[in-house]
Amino acid sequence: MGLLPLNGFWDFKIDPEDRGEDEGFPEGFERDYVLAVPASWNEQVPSLMNYMGVAWYARRFRIPERFDSLRAWLVFNGVNYRARVWLNGHLLGEHEGGFTSFRLEAPVEYESENLLVVKVDNRLAPDTIPPGRGLHGFEGPYFDFFHYGGIHRPVHLEFTGNSWVEELSVNTSFRGDLRIKVYTRGREPERVVARLLDEGKVIYVKELEKSGGFYSAEELLRGVEPWDIYRGRLYRLEVDVYSEELSDSVYEDIGFRTFEVEGEKLLLNGREIRLRGFGRHQDFPVFGRYLPEPVIVRDYAMMKRLNANSFRTSHYPYSGEDLDYADMMGFLVILEAPLVGLRREHFTNRDFLEKCKRVIREMIRDHRNRPSVVMYSIANEPQSWFDEARPFMEELVRTVRELDPTRPITYTSHAHMLGRRDKALDLVDVVSLHFYYGWYSFHGDLDQALKRAERDLEDIHRAYSGKPIIVTEFGAGAVAGLHSDPPEMWTEEYQADFLSRYTDLFASKDYVKGVHVWNLVDFKTPQSHWRIVLNRKGVLTRTRQPKMAARVVAEKFKKF
Ligand code: GCU
Repeated sequence: MGLLPLNGFWDFKIDPEDRGEDEGFPEGFERDYVLAVPASWNEQVPSLMNYMGVAWYARRFRIPERFDSLRAWLVFNGVNYRARVWLNGHLLGEHEGGFTSFRLEAPVEYESENLLVVKVDNRLAPDTIPPGRGLHGFEGPYFDFFHYGGIHRPVHLEFTGNSWVEELSVNTSFRGDLRIKVYTRGREPERVVARLLDEGKVIYVKELEKSGGFYSAEELLRGVEPWDIYRGRLYRLEVDVYSEELSDSVYEDIGFRTFEVEGEKLLLNGREIRLRGFGRHQDFPVFGRYLPEPVIVRDYAMMKRLNANSFRTSHYPYSGEDLDYADMMGFLVILEAPLVGLRREHFTNRDFLEKCKRVIREMIRDHRNRPSVVMYSIANEPQSWFDEARPFMEELVRTVRELDPTRPITYTSHAHMLGRRDKALDLVDVVSLHFYYGWYSFHGDLDQALKRAERDLEDIHRAYSGKPIIVTEFGAGAVAGLHSDPPEMWTEEYQADFLSRYTDLFASKDYVKGVHVWNLVDFKTPQSHWRIVLNRKGVLTRTRQPKMAARVVAEKFKKF
């Protein structure tokens, strides 16, 4: 009931010694800079580019008195990595994890200005999610994208009465099934009402029934149109909570669709489909890990021009704005948890496992009602050839199934590329594989590379027949403007050949139900001798201009 954005310019100060709390920063501090929120701090000011550590943000705001009978809540959609939040000098709470939202009750002042202070700590460690040590090179992150810091997703205030919606979950089918569950907190509400609107017109109203600690309704709605690829047919679901008067009102844009795994097939709304698309990153110059809306529009426009119908949120849940756009544009999304860089030692670390489960719960809570989200990826390239990985992955799979049994689960595996057997792939619904023969091995030799890839595919298909196989990464680096004949690594020609021939191989295998090129765009990585400032495997440059491979991929995807 009412939302007040807190984006814009914030005071900012670095605190490399982490002394701020002892020096009273929660009550205010002398700023070093004024930075923009949402955005990462790194590329806004050159001297912050390689800053990893503790930093402070602060801003003041006023609330109109007419809100004074309500409860105020501060909502942060993404702060990398650890956040501690003070309002008028009082600690409201903290959160760990850069890619899921958190909400804190905020006892705001109405007569005077409020001071909001946020301490952000983005120091990597072997037990952060994702893990790492430093910013660059071998002692850097355990992952291949730049470790930005800051308040990199929007912040706002929202208001409720004394009864509010804690969680809303919605399940639908393309036939019109609608199942609604509402968990409330605070005072017990008198009633909870759900309304479904079609372009503003109310087509369904229902008072929900209380049973088993939540409010629910189940219905088969005739005449609703299905949500589908490139046809993001959305309906607005509003839920009102009454306690004496209206106490809270939330809404979600939902779609009526069904995504299933049937044997080796992927079915959308009862028909077989193949996924074709990309691994992406939320990465843009100056903004860092925040993707402003115009760039989101551009990414989808380019994906459509490339005949893609899907992408994976490699390697972390993407922003609400991005996934709202996927819902609106009709793109299928594999929602990936930020579990990238998992090594043997992680699998036996109980505390780390519990933290992973919490991040997965938050991710599902944030995005479970989206029609675009059709599958969960619980990890990227874990070292799952070690026996210890199996019980760890098993617990993650169980956590997801308990929360949302309606979506298939996968994780991406590269064990075969190291000649190892993956010990946990039988636990998931869809087998996701990565191929880089012809780049990280068989350098410049696509004939040998493809032979080896085909052999691996056949082996894995034999081992996991009865499950769909998708290729979630394959790609080669190309520096835009670099050309050679005959094609050589790092040139646009080599990348185009690589992607063209691999896509042909995958298309020839009926059991391969999806191909995602690594990557849609060039993106910022830690510094190292194997990266030229960026990972250059994008078919588009970092500023979203096509390389030669783009046209080739578009042609191949048309037929896939
Ligand atoms: C890996 C990894 C990506 C990485 C890519 C690459 O498979 O999942 O994060 O960027 O390979 O090396 O380009």
